[in-house]
Amino acid sequence: MKRVLLIIGGGIAAYKCLDLIRRLGERGIAVRCVMTQAAQAFITPLAVGAISNEPVATDLFDLDAEREIGHIRMAREADLVVVAPATADLLARMAQGHANDLATAVLLATRAPVLAAPAMNPAMWSHPATQRNVRQLKTDGVSFIGPNAGEMAEKGEAGVGRMAEVAELVARIESLLDGAGRGDGGFGFLNVAAVRSARASLAGRHVLVTSGPTHEPIDPVRYIANRSSGKQGHAIAAAARRLGARVTLVSGPVQLPDPEGVEVRHVQTAREMLEAAEAALPADLAVFAAAVADWRVAAPGGGKIKKAAGAPPPSLELVENPDILRTIAKRGPRRPALVIGFAAETQNVVEYAKAKRKAKGVDWMVANDVSEKSGVFGAERTRVHLITAEGVEDWPDMGKAEVADALLRRAAAYLAERRESV
Ligand code: CTP
Repeated sequence: MKRVLLIIGGGIAAYKCLDLIRRLGERGIAVRCVMTQAAQAFITPLAVGAISNEPVATDLFDLDAEREIGHIRMAREADLVVVAPATADLLARMAQGHANDLATAVLLATRAPVLAAPAMNPAMWSHPATQRNVRQLKTDGVSFIGPNAGEMAEKGEAGVGRMAEVAELVARIESLLDGAGRGDGGFGFLNVAAVRSARASLAGRHVLVTSGPTHEPIDPVRYIANRSSGKQGHAIAAAARRLGARVTLVSGPVQLPDPEGVEVRHVQTAREMLEAAEAALPADLAVFAAAVADWRVAAPGGGKIKKAAGAPPPSLELVENPDILRTIAKRGPRRPALVIGFAAETQNVVEYAKAKRKAKGVDWMVANDVSEKSGVFGAERTRVHLITAEGVEDWPDMGKAEVADALLRRAAAYLAERRESV
């Protein structure tokens, strides 16, 4: 019998947990519950205990409960830990690794996968502090479901902050329990062990990332550019740093802050990007997420090009830019052990990306659809395909930060394997 440890947080959505426990029970899943002190203001341990048919744990320092089943054992015996509702405060304490009550102590002690179902006021959910905590928790291997958009308990309030519905929770819990032990190929539910081994593999390694567009001057005030926001590349640099790598990010002009702890080289043109990337070598892993301009103006004007009345518009002669990825992926003593390229395509996404992988001598290619209908450029979410020598994996719709985390974990596993086989 599969065992879920349900940690009930202190929010109005706690009432949904009673139904959740019942639905899981109907599916033959045992549910043991821990309630935070705040949760007990919304539903009673008596009701939870009656429905779950198990004693409810509420206190870290309850001698009887600890004698019967200690919090460490409770943490160990679970196949999955579910935090619902995951309040802003609980998420903050989880992200910090607090252990000042039973719920957080269990969360710190467990090695089981953790699923959090946030529920809070929309303003609290969108607050940078909450979003920072969520990012941290995702990096630590916690999976999330919701919150959904809709009406809030407070009259007249609506937005993103409602806890996922019970049916959604049940479906996700079942699929996580199904996948438990099988691994998830690097995304979906992430477990603590996977994050730990990625950290062990990347610690002290050097990761080079290119990001953003390039600007190719036409004259001192005009340039050729593209729509790249740099979000994906910057997320990759940040993810590599969080996993303990030394990171050099070569960035074209973007509207993003430098990721914390990352060495950033700001450049404008493709040629400057190549120079900075080469200067950063050697690296163990190189990820080329920049949308480098393929062409530059052959002879940019030294002064601003003026329009004269009646004169024809100037014509621009273009010449090809160096291919940074192709240059660095070339065999040689300075080639990084793993070279990853990105392919932004508007049609035949996978086929073109496969061809690019071979043509550029790249190990892995991350392909995404940037056609207008996909809305990927500048967006937070994306749908990618990972193309390796072994084949093509279609990844589900994910946030760019999630893609970065999953990609880095995969890269870390690849590097660890290579190290072992050397
Ligand atoms: N890239 C690079 N330097 C260039 C052009 C591209 O490093 N001058 C890298 C990108 O960072 C990306 C990959 O190559 O990782 C794919 O680039 P893309 O522009 O999509 O491919 P191209 O070879 O330019 O093909 P096309 O423009 O015809 O689609």
